[in-house]
Amino acid sequence: MSTSTTLSTAIDTAADAVARTAKVIVVIQQKGGAGKSTIAVNTAACAGRSAVLSNGDESAGAPVVAAGIDVQGTLEKWCAGVREEALPFDFVVTRSKLNILPSIINDSERRRIIVDTPGFLDVDPDAEWGADPLGESRTADALREVLEVADLALVPITPSKITWDECEYTIERVLKPRGIPFLVVINMHDPGKDKFEAQLNKVKAWIDERNYPRVADPIRRYTIHEHAYENGTLVTEYKMSGTALKAREDFMRVALTMEQML
Ligand SMILES: Nc1ncnc2c1ncn2[C@@H]1O[C@H](COP(=O)(O)OP(=O)(O)OP(=O)(O)O)[C@@H](O)[C@H]1O
Ligand SMILES: [Mg+2]
Repeated sequence: MSTSTTLSTAIDTAADAVARTAKVIVVIQQKGGAGKSTIAVNTAACAGRSAVLSNGDESAGAPVVAAGIDVQGTLEKWCAGVREEALPFDFVVTRSKLNILPSIINDSERRRIIVDTPGFLDVDPDAEWGADPLGESRTADALREVLEVADLALVPITPSKITWDECEYTIERVLKPRGIPFLVVINMHDPGKDKFEAQLNKVKAWIDERNYPRVADPIRRYTIHEHAYENGTLVTEYKMSGTALKAREDFMRVALTMEQML
């Protein structure tokens, strides 16, 4: 590469760094059902609520954007059901189409783009260690596009072992080779069934053995979350008392820890 090309690349990169104010947080886990969409939407709600409170200017584009890249457009169905005045973020779904996210990310009004992704069990079994295992598919291309610009990944795991291997795979095979910082989020701790926290402590120990950074406390399993999608509710709309308050606090903690990592 000539010196002039190197210099122009450096200038382009510097210009990008100045222009891009948004941080991209990708919620990713190879296995389905660990809570990616629930975490993406509610963390965006908590981050968006704080931004609205501190910003005060509701006429401008929202500083927080929730984006969904799955083909089904899960996020859209959820967010479209939320009352407009209760939605403290903008949302967009790409349905795995490329080139939609970059324009949002480079919009100077945006501060946080929280991206919900689909599971990706259909990986390339022959991919060598350190090589991209995502294979060839529309989902794989959409994932690669967001991973390219990700500043942080949130990786959900459950106390039940069913998601542990996929959590490790996501971190070791997808995030670490790309140098993307990550934060493990324990979801679905059942305070009723796991009263003495035996299962919770097992998953915490498993995460800590691997030196993975994690949100200190889990998101608890509450029925209120199960109906949030069909009811079009966000944790920021939950009541400020009883279980609903606890449920809301769990996501506030995720949003706060996420901010500390950025
Ligand atoms: N903390 C929780 N308490 C109760 N229910 C939860 C909790 N987190 C997620 N759920 C429920 O578990 C199911 C799976 O969650 P979600 O859809 O967020 O997972 P996902 O990782 O996005 O799944 P997919 O890979 O299929 O997109 C949903 O029915 C959701 O309502
Ligand atoms: Mg989902």
